[in-house]
Amino acid sequence: VKGGFASFMDKEIHDQPKAVADTLLGRTDPRGALVLDELRIPEATLRSIDKIIVIACGTAAYSGHVAKYAIEHWCRIPVEVELAHEFRYRDPIVGPRTLVVAISQSGETMDTLMAVRHAREQGASVLAICNTHGSTIPRESDAVLYTHAGPEVAVASTKAFLAQVAACYLLGLYLAQLRGTKFPDELREILEDLHALPDKIQRVLDDEEAVRHVAQKMADEESFLFLGRHVGYPVALEGALKLKEIAYIHAEGFAAGELKHGPIALVDEGQPVFVIVPSPRGRDQLHAKVVSNIQEVRARGARTLVIAEDGDEAVVPYADVVFRVPQTPSLLAPLVAVVPLQIFACALATAKGLDVDQPRNLAKSVTVE
Ligand code: BG6
Repeated sequence: VKGGFASFMDKEIHDQPKAVADTLLGRTDPRGALVLDELRIPEATLRSIDKIIVIACGTAAYSGHVAKYAIEHWCRIPVEVELAHEFRYRDPIVGPRTLVVAISQSGETMDTLMAVRHAREQGASVLAICNTHGSTIPRESDAVLYTHAGPEVAVASTKAFLAQVAACYLLGLYLAQLRGTKFPDELREILEDLHALPDKIQRVLDDEEAVRHVAQKMADEESFLFLGRHVGYPVALEGALKLKEIAYIHAEGFAAGELKHGPIALVDEGQPVFVIVPSPRGRDQLHAKVVSNIQEVRARGARTLVIAEDGDEAVVPYADVVFRVPQTPSLLAPLVAVVPLQIFACALATAKGLDVDQPRNLAKSVTVE
């Protein structure tokens, strides 16, 4: 069942090119326009929504965090991301023009389900992004966009996360098409970039030995920090979560710009810091800003583990280790940037002799509030 891999998590990390490809499959018509057949919310409703609220827990919430950047950029609709258990208890402003997107691998997470019910009671339309056919959250939602990651066994989510992010991109592109916020040729170009991702993810997996080797040598570390900006920020949060979940190591993700407002006080001699570096080809200043964040932590003694694009030489002088990912348009980069972090956590936990598939105190789906 594990297909020759040491753990389900390891196998599921390697399933990711297929999980993303299958999630993208069959969602365009012969002219290249997006068709989301399952999305049974009337087009008129989707045209009139003035706000999107993503609700989810854990890793699924981080996929929503990536979605916020993409959907706001492509569709110019405000997107909030909220942990499902917080959403319900804070009197959220939700109405008929709100689209609530509930993301859940299992479709059974009670916190998310209760938030779905609450949103529908307030008159919102609810779209579920879910990996499990016929589960409760899609059944109680107005519509569902299924991820096709296949069954995920390991408690710590990997392939479901990538599939959720891919589904969120599809939703964003579909809304942009429907609302006319992007030209058809721009949309086609982004879709082509998206369809190139499974091969790029495979290239990251082909380089996994380098990541494993570093992870195995760091099994005795007590704490890791993760820094990222823009879509690299949720990637940093997810990288930290993986280490907490399966390696029981204290790990925290921060927005890199926040460093100087507090977290940099944590950095002293030898502190390992992962930095997710945006593409140097982006039109903004983000790349330069993040490179200077690497310099800042390094100057205070940090050991820097840098995730950077192929060909990005600017990071080399300040990196103790560089893990390379293929060149990818900024908004889509989480699909490659998170993969070395998953491999790292899995290899480190395995080196510690831990059961990576069944971490202590955690369940695959939490069906109590
Ligand atoms: C947690 C799982 O309990 O629930 C995480 O351990 C998962 O891996 C989270 O991300 C949300 O689960 P789901 O099924 O709603 O995506």
